[in-house]
Amino acid sequence: MGADQGSSSSQHKLQPLRGTRDLLFENKVKLDFIQSTAMKMAPLFGYEPIETPVMEFDDVFHRTLGDTSDIVSKETYTFVDRGGDKVTLRPEGTAGVARAFISEGLAQNLPLRLIYSGPMFRYERPQKGRYRQFYQVGVECLGLENYAADVECISFAYQFLQALGLKDSFVVELNTLGDVESRTNYRQALVQYFSQHKERLSPESLHRLEKNPLRILDSKAESDKALFAGAPSLQDHLNESSRTYFANVQAGLEALGIPFKLNERLVRGLDYYCHTVFEFTTTALGAQGALLAGGRYDGLIELMGGPRTPGVGWGSGVDRLMEMIPEGLIPKTQLTVALIGADDKGEMGCMKLAHDLRKQSISCQHIMGGNIGKKMKKADKLGAKFALIVGERELNEGQLSVKNLATGHQESISTSSLAAYLVSQG
Ligand code: HAM
Repeated sequence: MGADQGSSSSQHKLQPLRGTRDLLFENKVKLDFIQSTAMKMAPLFGYEPIETPVMEFDDVFHRTLGDTSDIVSKETYTFVDRGGDKVTLRPEGTAGVARAFISEGLAQNLPLRLIYSGPMFRYERPQKGRYRQFYQVGVECLGLENYAADVECISFAYQFLQALGLKDSFVVELNTLGDVESRTNYRQALVQYFSQHKERLSPESLHRLEKNPLRILDSKAESDKALFAGAPSLQDHLNESSRTYFANVQAGLEALGIPFKLNERLVRGLDYYCHTVFEFTTTALGAQGALLAGGRYDGLIELMGGPRTPGVGWGSGVDRLMEMIPEGLIPKTQLTVALIGADDKGEMGCMKLAHDLRKQSISCQHIMGGNIGKKMKKADKLGAKFALIVGERELNEGQLSVKNLATGHQESISTSSLAAYLVSQG
């Protein structure tokens, strides 16, 4: 049995689980950069950070994301813990934030704009850009039933991707699902239409016909897709207020100069949406083209047992954004000083110098082990700006020889003015 199918052999247990990965060096730097870019932008939009647990009672997700959604029906990591509680690793962030809103009694603080980032878990078939442990940065704006909140939310997403250097490499796809009344009307029309074609529906869509016919439009099965062209359109079932709402969202985006493309087939994979839904997609990543997605969810908090509280938000796929950010966007940090001990006293001197320089925010590495030649090579390999050779004689005289590794230029600097000299050299 290969690692792909899962294996109990001890060798495979030393690999990361399928769909999970170690983020090393520049990959981890990219992840942090993306998360911190969003966090730094958050105050511009009035968003405050929130961190909810990675695991919740299973009900938090089952009651909210919808039993027919793929996420709940087949993708959650759910287990019974040692105390007998049924626990689920969060597959997304919105339900946890909504749970926190209720259990922390935040209804007095509306409107609330919250931003989070962290790992999510879905038991999906791994492929490029799709992982079982993946990372999201997400935002939720609670308490505003106003098209301007949708526009603001999309504008944050847009500016976030611009700040990551994505420029024109994505498209904003937009749709509306309408309010409850419009959806109920549409649902009836869909049930009527698909019921006439039951024999051509995939088994999954047949199941959805009873529970959530809208999700049939999300199906990838060819037999289902062939029926879409003749299916009733949601746009034709929108009531007046839903139409006006969506027109205002579009006018708002136009006023902000955010280009978007209407996509009537955009229904989203989670059950909690109403009115505006959107996806920022790219063709640059193959099949997994959704970089960021979200929408409005006015009924979610009430459905979970809280006070009726409208919401709108999005989640971005950080793993996918990592693939997209241009070379050179993340500033490289260069090591300032490599400290090289020439003898035992010198090693002690290096330790102390490093300690003092770091207090002044000058980066140092004490190169340990090997002769001076080997240590110089290491200093070069590390890309340090300067190398300092420190021995008993230099320490006694209080004069250190500082070598600029790029130019080869060497200067004698007094210990007391070393930090100032290094700073002056940039
Ligand atoms: P979602 O569309 O399920 O929405 O996920 C949002 C984004 O997470 C996707 O567009 C994609 O970039 C990324 N993503 C999803 N699954 C994976 C995966 N297996 N591997 C890598 N990246 C993935 C939500 O999660 C909603 N909570 C968004 C939201 C917030 N709606 C309102 N507020």
